[in-house]
Amino acid sequence: MRKAAAWRRVLREALPEPPARVLDVGAGTGALALLAAELGHRVTALDLSEGMLAVAKRKAAQRGLELDFVVGRAAEPPPGPFDAVMERHVLWTLPEPERALAAWRSVCAPGGRLVLLEGSWGGDGPLERARELAAEAVRRLRRVPHDHHAPYPEEVLAALPLARRSSPRPMLEAVRRAGWRAVRIKRLRDVEWAQLQQEPRLLSLLEHRPRYAIVADA
Ligand SMILES: C[S@@+](CC[C@H](N)C(=O)[O-])C[C@H]1O[C@@H](n2cnc3c(N)ncnc32)[C@H](O)[C@@H]1O
Repeated sequence: MRKAAAWRRVLREALPEPPARVLDVGAGTGALALLAAELGHRVTALDLSEGMLAVAKRKAAQRGLELDFVVGRAAEPPPGPFDAVMERHVLWTLPEPERALAAWRSVCAPGGRLVLLEGSWGGDGPLERARELAAEAVRRLRRVPHDHHAPYPEEVLAALPLARRSSPRPMLEAVRRAGWRAVRIKRLRDVEWAQLQQEPRLLSLLEHRPRYAIVADA
């Protein structure tokens, strides 16, 4: 299964029935926001970066999709209300993740849902560091670019409460402390499998990480 197909299936299962009002926080160039719009949702794509949203806008126009685009901070979402707030690979990069989680709950309609699409990106022990360095070396040698961004510097990672966690537990606890209820988690094996198929063998083994969806109710 290709990555887009795997993610489409994840969204179909995790989001409410379409058409729902969906906020994609840190939407970037719109990979998931556009998939959600294709599934029939009314999507608002929020991102700090005008440049990223400009790419998302262009892609939406090419695919004949209508979305709302908002430039702004994750912790200051548009008022909504939304039936679902989702994010992929953004929450762990925030210095105050609980503040953002609480803000997202405040813009949810009654019965609204949180959908976090994340992974355990490793710990900070010596074995994990060795694995990261080996993966970086393979990327350089094989000239494989990152599909997201270069690794964060050490001092930046140290200030992020959810960075480099080897377990989803701290994220689950942050979600609960921010007031979300019925918090559940599901491993995304199709996404992991699709990722393995699309990268060079050694790199995919070195960078293989558990992916999961955390879903909760407002
Ligand atoms: C790793 S990318 C993920 C993009 C998209 N969610 C995806 O999965 O394809 C992170 C995105 O979050 C955005 N971002 C990071 N911090 C943010 C913040 N505090 N508020 C809004 N957007 C933020 C970045 O500009 C970037 O587009």
